[in-house]
Amino acid sequence: MSKERKVALVTGGNRGIGYELVKQLALKGFQVILTSRDSETGHEAAQKLKVSTLDVSFVQMDVDSQESIRQAAITVSECFGRLDVLINNAGVYLDENEKLMEMEPSILEATMATNFFGAYHVIRSFMPIMEKQGYGRVINVSSEYGALREMSSPGVGAYKLSKLALNGLTRLVAAEIKGDIQINAVDPGWVSSDMGGPSAPRTPKQAAESILWLATTGPEGPNGGFFRDGKRTDW
Ligand SMILES: NC(=O)c1ccc[n+]([C@@H]2O[C@H](COP(=O)([O-])OP(=O)(O)OC[C@H]3O[C@@H](n4cnc5c(N)ncnc54)[C@H](OP(=O)(O)O)[C@@H]3O)[C@@H](O)[C@H]2O)c1
Repeated sequence: MSKERKVALVTGGNRGIGYELVKQLALKGFQVILTSRDSETGHEAAQKLKVSTLDVSFVQMDVDSQESIRQAAITVSECFGRLDVLINNAGVYLDENEKLMEMEPSILEATMATNFFGAYHVIRSFMPIMEKQGYGRVINVSSEYGALREMSSPGVGAYKLSKLALNGLTRLVAAEIKGDIQINAVDPGWVSSDMGGPSAPRTPKQAAESILWLATTGPEGPNGGFFRDGKRTDW
């Protein structure tokens, strides 16, 4: 690994856990690329962090759009020339009080599009940069709901299936990649964001702190694991 400053990218960085991940990565000395599907909210979020003299740049990326992802990968390659840490954080939770067999199929499709296919296409588009440099740390923000045992209780089927698939993707990609590249999934816990609601016990700051150790693991670090608070967990 060269001694140049490391570059990290976070999807859905404009609010919630993603925003905190961007902030803490910048505080750790990374050059951070905050991505967001909406240019205005993304710019605003990046600007807020820049005011505190943090090194944060904005790049537009809608993870539901392969073209948007492709463009973002080109921009990152041209403007930064490297990518050391990639965090797939963007996510939707569309079926809180729904049952899988009763909901509109479009809810499942939309959830899979963002939470699973979004992460899949982002990894496919950015992995070549990591492969070229022979180094990379990919973190998929998953959920306890993605554990196989969660499939035994009814409800939240679209979200659960999307995170189960994301966990599977994490393990498959880990088995395929070579060099000093690691990919892991994390459960951030129940977090007080727009998604988690105000009663959640954990703040986005605490959630980000519990995730970011995976951004700086050494070559002997884990690959293909699913973690909660630094501990390997079952799925
Ligand atoms: N909060 C919890 O309790 C909890 C628990 C377990 C796992 N998680 C996971 O943690 C991650 C972050 O959740 P959060 O609580 O911070 O949620 P949040 O506050 O609802 O934020 C979600 C973020 O994802 C972005 N996003 C959604 N669809 C996108 C798309 N197509 N392209 C790009 N960005 C998109 C949103 O952008 P917009 O502002 O444009 O909508 C927003 O920035 C998610 O993957 C979630 O599943 C959360």
